[in-house]
Amino acid sequence: MKILLIGNGAREHIMAEKLSESPKCDELFVFASSINPGIRDLASIYHVGDLGDMDAIKEFADKNRPDFAVIGPENPIADGVVDILEEIGIPSASPTKNLGQLESSKSFTRELLAKYDIPGNPDFKTFTSEVGMLEYAKELGEIVVKADGLKGGKGVHVQGDHFETIEEGVEYAKQCMEEDGHVVIEEKFIGQEFSLMSFVDGEHVVDMPPIQDHKRAFEGDTGPNTGGMGTYNYPGNLPFLTEQDLKDAHEINVKVTAALKEELGRPFKGIMYGGFIAVKDGVRLIEYNARFGDPEAMNALALLETDYVDICQATIDGTLDKLDIKFAKKATVCKYAVPDGYPTNPRKGDVFTIKPLPTGVKMYFASVNETEEGLVMGGSRTVAFVGMADSIEEAEKLAQTAVEGVDGPVFYRKDIGTKELIQKRVEMMEELRN
Ligand code: GLY
Repeated sequence: MKILLIGNGAREHIMAEKLSESPKCDELFVFASSINPGIRDLASIYHVGDLGDMDAIKEFADKNRPDFAVIGPENPIADGVVDILEEIGIPSASPTKNLGQLESSKSFTRELLAKYDIPGNPDFKTFTSEVGMLEYAKELGEIVVKADGLKGGKGVHVQGDHFETIEEGVEYAKQCMEEDGHVVIEEKFIGQEFSLMSFVDGEHVVDMPPIQDHKRAFEGDTGPNTGGMGTYNYPGNLPFLTEQDLKDAHEINVKVTAALKEELGRPFKGIMYGGFIAVKDGVRLIEYNARFGDPEAMNALALLETDYVDICQATIDGTLDKLDIKFAKKATVCKYAVPDGYPTNPRKGDVFTIKPLPTGVKMYFASVNETEEGLVMGGSRTVAFVGMADSIEEAEKLAQTAVEGVDGPVFYRKDIGTKELIQKRVEMMEELRN
C-alpha cells in the first residue's frame, strides 16, 4: 500500500514508524513543514511545504496517488484537508472539516453534548452578545472562558491559571466574542485530568489505554501551559481512576460518535481524543480533539501491538469491530526536551546532539530541522523520549536517563512519571471523593 502522512512532529514520527513497520506499507509519502530526519528516513518521498496550503497538499497527493491518508495535526483537519483529498478519490483515516468541529469549535461540542443529552458537560452558555455575561459568570463561581476555533492551544483561559477575577475573565470573553462572534463561558472543574483516545470508524469505538499529560512547563505543575511536557500510562488503569470512570468516559465517546452521525449526517472516522477530568462524583469532558494527542500518541502507539495500517484501513471501511486491537500491558513514560524559554520565549535555531539511547527507550523528533550544521531546534518541543517497561518506575528511569542525554539549551520535567507526583494525584482524588 501507498500511504500519505501529513505532519512532522514527534506524534507524526511515531505514526510514521508504526505505519512503516507494517508489512502492508510499501511506500510512505510525507508532506511536512520542516525536515524531521526521523520521519524523512522512513519515507519514500518526503516533501517540505506549508501544512496550511491545501492546494499544495492536493497536488502532492494527486501526483503520488496514495491508497489512503492519515493526518497528524489539528490545523490541516480544520482546514478541510480530508475533504480536499476526498475530492480526488483519496480516503483518510481522519475526520472531515465538518466532523473536525469536535475539536475546532468549542461551542459546537458543548451544544452537541447538550442537544443529545450526553453526560459530561459543565454548566455552560454560548454567548453571542455581552448581555448577561457577567451575571452568568458570577453565578458559576469559578469559570473557564473558551474562544471558538483553533488558537494554537491558547484560546482556553482558566480562572486561577490565566486570570484571577470573574471580571478579568469576562473581559477576555468579550475580546473572544469580538474576534469570533461567539464565546463559551463554563464552570471550572476540580479533579484529575486524563486522556482517553479511541479509534473510531463512524460506529465502533475502540479505546486506547488512558494516559495522563502534564501541561505545565515546570516541575510540580507550575509555570505556563505548554503543548504537553510528558505523559505516562500504567499497565492497567491510571491509579487515580476507577474502572467506572473509564467506562463512563468510554460511554461518552460512544454517544458522541452516534450523535455526530445523527447531527452531521456523516460518520466520524479517525481518532476521538477525549480530554476528560475525574471529579468528585464521576467524569466530565473538558474538550475533544479530533486527532492523536501529542505526547499521548507516543504512549499509545508504543503500546499498540496490532498492525496500525490495518487499523487505518478498518477506520476508513467501518470495520474496526473485525479487528482484535491489542496493547501491550506495560507502562510507558514520555518526556519531552524543550528549548530554554519555552513556551513563552523559546530559543530557536540552536544546534543540539543526543547521546546514544539506553535499551528500552525510543526517541521521536518534534520541532527540529536538519541543516548543514546538524540538527537545530525549531522553537517548540524538541525531542520526545519514551521508556517502556513492566513497571512505571522502570519506564520513568529509562525516559529520564535518555532525556538527560540531550546536549543543548533545553530543559525537561524530572517529575513526570515519578512515584511522588503520581501519589499526589491519587491523594488529591481520595480527598475529593471521600
Ligand atoms: N496533549 C495535548 C494535545 O495533544 O492537545
